[in-house]
Amino acid sequence: MIVGFWIAVTGLALVLFLAVHLGGVGMALVDPTGFERFATSLHRQVWLPWLEVALLAAVLGHPLLSLHRARANCQARGPAAGPLRSRRQGPWESLAALAARVIPWSGSLLLLFLLLHLAQLRWHRPADGAELAAVLAVLQVPWCLALYAVAGAAAGLHLLHGAESALRRLGLLEPANAAALRLGGRGLALLLGAGFALLPLALVLRPAVPLVAGG
Ligand code: HEM
Repeated sequence: MIVGFWIAVTGLALVLFLAVHLGGVGMALVDPTGFERFATSLHRQVWLPWLEVALLAAVLGHPLLSLHRARANCQARGPAAGPLRSRRQGPWESLAALAARVIPWSGSLLLLFLLLHLAQLRWHRPADGAELAAVLAVLQVPWCLALYAVAGAAAGLHLLHGAESALRRLGLLEPANAAALRLGGRGLALLLGAGFALLPLALVLRPAVPLVAGG
């Protein structure tokens, strides 16, 4: 019970991070100068290391607790029981059922992607004003571009099941609000998934615009 609670809380914290992260990196597309200013100012904040420690705890805690619960469930139900299946019908339901079945795989892919992503763009900090150049240098390598797009789609698929599951775990999904919350969770999954899958392509294809110094 307590394990499920923390899986839900860490998962929702990561969703919040992803929404803010998409907004931040999306700025690179529409306002490259603002994006550089934002990145420089972010790295001057004293609270940033604390936020990163909390993020690391969520990134590690979420999969470890999920693995622990999957093992416990498997032992309780026995291997012959197989995965649970939804009785709801419709195209969204098939996609949601697929998302539920592949959730360990989409999660593992995201973890592997994250290791590479942090090594490429976080552990070696570019100089102030060179953040977008660093992002573009990564995305101009074809297999990296493909991996970023696939990771974005995997994030969307992971959230398609994860958002609803977290709300249910926290006891927030009730018959009266289930349809609205389910729609909201799926909308957010679609927005973040499509956003992270398409943004790398949009960044690579966008016409090069010179940065406005100090503006
Ligand atoms: C369009 C795709 C993406 C781009 C262009 C992008 C870009 C970046 C950049 C530039 C940084 C360094 C930020 C900084 O040092 O200020 C960063 C950090 C990070 N990104 Fe991404 N990212 C993308 C997708 C993702 C996805 C899909 C995830 C999650 C699965 C993710 C998770 C993270 C994390 C956890 C950090 C470290 C944040 C921190 O420690 O401050 N990113 N990303």
